[in-house]
Amino acid sequence: MAEIVGCQMIMVSRRNFIQKSSAAAGLGFLSLKALGFVPEAPLKIFDLHSTDRKAHVAILGAGLAGMTAGWELRKLGYQVTILEARKRTGGRVWTVRGGDQEKELDKPNQVCRFDKGQYLNAGAARIPHHHALTMHYCKALGVPLEAYNNINEGAYFYSEHDKGSLANMPVRIREIHNDIRGYLAELMHKCLSADGLDQPLTSEDQEKILEYLRVEGALDIDRLYKGSSRRGYRDYPGAGSKAGRSADAFLLSDIIESGFLDPSFSNLPEYDLNLQQTLFQPVGGMDQISKALEQQVSDDLVLDAQVLSVISEEEKVAITYTEAGEEKQLVADYCICTLPLPVLGKVTNNFRPALLRAIDYVPYNKTGKIGFQFNRRFWEEDDAIYGGISRTNMDITQIFYPNTDYQSDKGVLVGYYNFGDKAERFAELSLAEREQLALQQGAKIHPQYKDHFENSFSLAWHKIPYSEGGWAQYSEAARKRFYPELIKPEGRVYMAGEHTTYLTAWMAGAFESARRSVDLIHARVNESQPQYETTEP
Ligand code: ALA
Repeated sequence: MAEIVGCQMIMVSRRNFIQKSSAAAGLGFLSLKALGFVPEAPLKIFDLHSTDRKAHVAILGAGLAGMTAGWELRKLGYQVTILEARKRTGGRVWTVRGGDQEKELDKPNQVCRFDKGQYLNAGAARIPHHHALTMHYCKALGVPLEAYNNINEGAYFYSEHDKGSLANMPVRIREIHNDIRGYLAELMHKCLSADGLDQPLTSEDQEKILEYLRVEGALDIDRLYKGSSRRGYRDYPGAGSKAGRSADAFLLSDIIESGFLDPSFSNLPEYDLNLQQTLFQPVGGMDQISKALEQQVSDDLVLDAQVLSVISEEEKVAITYTEAGEEKQLVADYCICTLPLPVLGKVTNNFRPALLRAIDYVPYNKTGKIGFQFNRRFWEEDDAIYGGISRTNMDITQIFYPNTDYQSDKGVLVGYYNFGDKAERFAELSLAEREQLALQQGAKIHPQYKDHFENSFSLAWHKIPYSEGGWAQYSEAARKRFYPELIKPEGRVYMAGEHTTYLTAWMAGAFESARRSVDLIHARVNESQPQYETTEP
């Protein structure tokens, strides 16, 4: 009660303030923000200044976290050395183009055969609009963005099922969505309008909800759901006598029996804050971000440099690594380690036991993708699908359509993007078997696959050297037990990367962790207070 009373008092005082201020001068953005009426943008204060105190920081890994940390440290005048095991930068921000090669841990070398101009964002592929720091760095680095269509009601659901009249055929998402919404609205309408129901609502509220449900579900005059043009037409409207004819609604029992209420078809991918429109992608591939960062730190970057050991000492950090096969030493004042934990687990170190346990036990997810190049954009030309995602309960899980170069001749779509057991099943197959299975499953949704397929490139992130996992996937217990150890410095070594954040699986985690580690080191060098940790909203 006390809180509610307190809350009411705040609201009253805000209202008074608004009335007075509005009357006096009108309200500016800042006054509104100060009052909490405009949501705080999640871009945290990061206003570090160069001082006379400098240090040499070794950074392990030239992914987004490592290169961003390096860039920010350079701006502050630090000496930076970034060691990267691969011959490329970007880590899991990896765009595969024709000629690119990769060799998974237990697979033969794979060479991408996409045509010039075609690409697969093999790792990071989408940027949520509210990832303010990612948006900030894209702007600061001059990386142009284009809209990424994450939700397409015109794409398909495909339920592979032993029964149900809608199973085993592609069904437009908008048909299922509008039918389920309509039937649920009808059910709720019936419940709410039934006499004798004990509702904690005024009759006015009840009327409003009933009216809302009528519109929400497209209920008819009898408050029943019979379908609507929202779910598409059987005959499209046109000129002259072409009035158009709506398609009939599916029966709710058919939708249920065919499996469309099963988790594979839940709307979580649309409701999740990170997947709500608008999303973005860099024009020309996600690696435009890592390439732009690389330009900022190229003087300090050592590629093909695999870290063998990290020893944190009283006054320095000693690192051994191989550069093009030759063993070398690097001694720095501090170290920012962005290596994914499955990779760090193989590096010799003198870390405390609790940190070693965290490195060993934080779970990483298994995830994989395949890019299919087709010589015709049949999904656009035949199915009017422009970007977005079709979803299925088959092992391929989902098909992502390209969100760029619409109506061009060729295209690369993502033939599967799956997780956990489904990703593992694909990972265990040979490259040729992966291609075959994904083609076979995908052809159930798009029979045109067979006629227009040209080539593929597939990957299983837990088998990709120097990554060995998709992203850290904390259980509640792992977050409680291991995470606090990871974010504590180990002597002069600071961990960074998505696994050291609450933004795992997102580039935002890499950026946020880079800033945090730079802030902590800068504060330590200058014996001052860090900003990042003290400016949580
Ligand atoms: N960030 C990852 C994705 O977009 C999880 O699917």
